[in-house]
Amino acid sequence: MMKVVGIIGSERKDGNTAYLVQETLKTLKSKEIATETIFLGDYNISGCNGCESCKDTYRCVIHDDMQKIYPLILNSDAIVLGSPTYFYNITSLTKAFLERFYCFQVFAEDDRSVWSSVNEALGGKYALVIAICEQDDEKDMGFTPEAMSLPLAGLGYRVLDTVKILKLYKKEDILRNTEAVEKAKTAGEKLGKTLQLRKEIESNIRKHLDIKNS
Ligand SMILES: Cc1cc2nc3c(=O)[nH]c(=O)nc-3n(C[C@H](O)[C@H](O)[C@H](O)COP(=O)(O)O)c2cc1C
Repeated sequence: MMKVVGIIGSERKDGNTAYLVQETLKTLKSKEIATETIFLGDYNISGCNGCESCKDTYRCVIHDDMQKIYPLILNSDAIVLGSPTYFYNITSLTKAFLERFYCFQVFAEDDRSVWSSVNEALGGKYALVIAICEQDDEKDMGFTPEAMSLPLAGLGYRVLDTVKILKLYKKEDILRNTEAVEKAKTAGEKLGKTLQLRKEIESNIRKHLDIKNS
């Protein structure tokens, strides 16, 4: 069974990000896709300390709650990552979470401009990004969308959609914004269809193409 993990980068469990990530995941449940939600606020995650110990092992040596999250992400086919804008950027929770995937990005020994990733070696994965802010001008979102989509792309995720939702301030604002919910659901449906297509290709590819096993 395929698996999608939703990651909520806000401390507000009943806030706008939580609602939108969960609505996105709901669109996937009918399609033989298991889903799981991670509220980053429930975990104690520090940022990367730059020790470079992960260089050859792809494992992070920091013993905090990120160690519980790594297996969930490794065993998933896609992630839905959402963060509100905090001062023109993602929240520190989301930033710490992303930094800790440095151990999955792998650079050539003699040339730092050459890199690949654990995710690419595992066959490629998909991501949706959801960015939320209170202002009505996209520039007040600052770097929020790119602060998620660029690291994810570097980590080998194909980012299928970056949903940007403006004008959400109070927790319950999302309940009055059906357009925003529809946008998130449409992105979720696209992810579901992409995963389905991927599965079809996986089961048909050897029927049509001459591929050696080794
Ligand atoms: C510390 C802090 C900084 C914020 N900075 C911005 C900002 O730069 N631009 C903006 O439009 N909204 C900003 N906001 C508003 C939040 O993005 C908004 O309330 C959002 O809906 C919160 O999402 P949540 O309910 O998922 O926590 C900020 C909120 C906080 C608490």
